[in-house]
Amino acid sequence: ATAPLVLGIETSCDETGIGIVRGTQLLANVIASSMDEHARYGGVVPEVAARAHLEALEPTITEAVQKAGIRLDELDAVAVTAGPGLAGALMVGVGAAKALAVALGKPLYGVNHLVGHVGADLLDADGGPGRDIDLPTIALLVSGGHTSLLHVRSLTDDVELLGETIDDAAGEAFDKVARVLGLPYPGGPQIDRVALDGDQKAIRFPRGLTLPKDMAKHRYDFSFSGLKTAVARWVEQREDAGEPVPVADVAASFREAVADVLLRKAIAACVDREVPRLLLGGGVVANARVRQLAQERADAAGITLRIPALSLCTDNGAMIAALAAQRIAAGHEPSTLDFGADSTLPV
Ligand code: KG4
Ligand code: ZN
Repeated sequence: ATAPLVLGIETSCDETGIGIVRGTQLLANVIASSMDEHARYGGVVPEVAARAHLEALEPTITEAVQKAGIRLDELDAVAVTAGPGLAGALMVGVGAAKALAVALGKPLYGVNHLVGHVGADLLDADGGPGRDIDLPTIALLVSGGHTSLLHVRSLTDDVELLGETIDDAAGEAFDKVARVLGLPYPGGPQIDRVALDGDQKAIRFPRGLTLPKDMAKHRYDFSFSGLKTAVARWVEQREDAGEPVPVADVAASFREAVADVLLRKAIAACVDREVPRLLLGGGVVANARVRQLAQERADAAGITLRIPALSLCTDNGAMIAALAAQRIAAGHEPSTLDFGADSTLPV
C-alpha cells in the first residue's frame, strides 16, 4: 500500500498551519501567522488568535492543496491538533477539521501538539522522502507556549512527559526580557541579534530549578519567571543609579542562562535514561546560543543531536499530518467525532 495522504491542521497558538504529507514526504507546509496583530500587546492575545485562525483557515487550506498538487477528495485522512494550547484557538481548528472530515467522508485524527513537534523530524523540509526517527530519544521542545522534556520510546504509543515549565515558557521569557530592554516583539530574534556584541559572562543571572534541592524534586522541570524578574531588577537598578544599561551584555548573559538550563536538564535526562539521542523542537530552537550549546554538550556526552529545519521546528500543520500518518501506519483507529479541543491534553 502507498503511504497515507494526510492533511494536518494546527491552530494551537498564533500560527494557522496547514500541512500535507504522504507518509513521511512533505508535500506542502503553509503557515499564516497572526504574530503582527499580537506585536502591539507584546504577547499572543488568545481572542485575537482565535479570530485570526477563523479567517485564515480556508485560504490557507486552499493554498496548501494547490502547492501539494492534490485534490481534497484524494486525502486518506484529516489530522488536527487537539491540544495542548489556547482553548479558543484549538477549538477553531478542531471544528474546521471535523467539518472537513465529515464533508469529505474521511477519517479524522486528533493529535497531541507536543508529540507533533517530535514528528516534525520525520520530514524533510525540501520535500525529500523523509526518514524514520531513531528511538528511543529525549526531546526538548521550547517555544513561546511550551517548554517540555519528553522521553519518546514510540512515536505513536509510548511518549513520557519528563518535565515542563512550572511558570513561563522559555520563548515567553525571551519576549518579556526583550520588552524590558526596549526591544520589539517577538523578543527571541532581537535578543539573539543584540547578544552578538555582548559578553555572556558579564552578569551571572540565576539558573531556575538547578540547585541540588530543586534537582531532587524538579529534575526535569523548568522555571523562567525568576530569571525574568532578576533581569528586570538588574536593569532597573542601573537605571535608578543613572547608569547606562549595557543591553548587549544583559541580552547575552540572559540568553546564556536560558540555554544553560535547557541543555543541562536535557542532557541530564539523556544520561539518566541512558538515551544517547536528543531531538530539539519549537521556535526557540532558532536561538544561536541554544543551538551551539546543544551541539557542544551533546558532543561532549556522546549524544547524537537532531534539529529539524526551522520551518518544521516552529508550529506547523505538516508535523501534525506526519504524526497522524504514523498512527495510520501503526493501525490506530481514527478519533471519534466527539473528541474536543483540550487545552491541557496530556501526551
Ligand atoms: O514555535 P513558535 O514559532 O510559536 C509558539 O510559541 O508556539 O515560537 C515562538 C517563540 C517566541 O517566543 C519567540 O520569541 C521565540 O520562539 N524565538 C526565539 C528565537 N526565535 C524565536 N527565542 C530565542 N531566540 C530566537 N532566535
Ligand atoms: Zn509548539
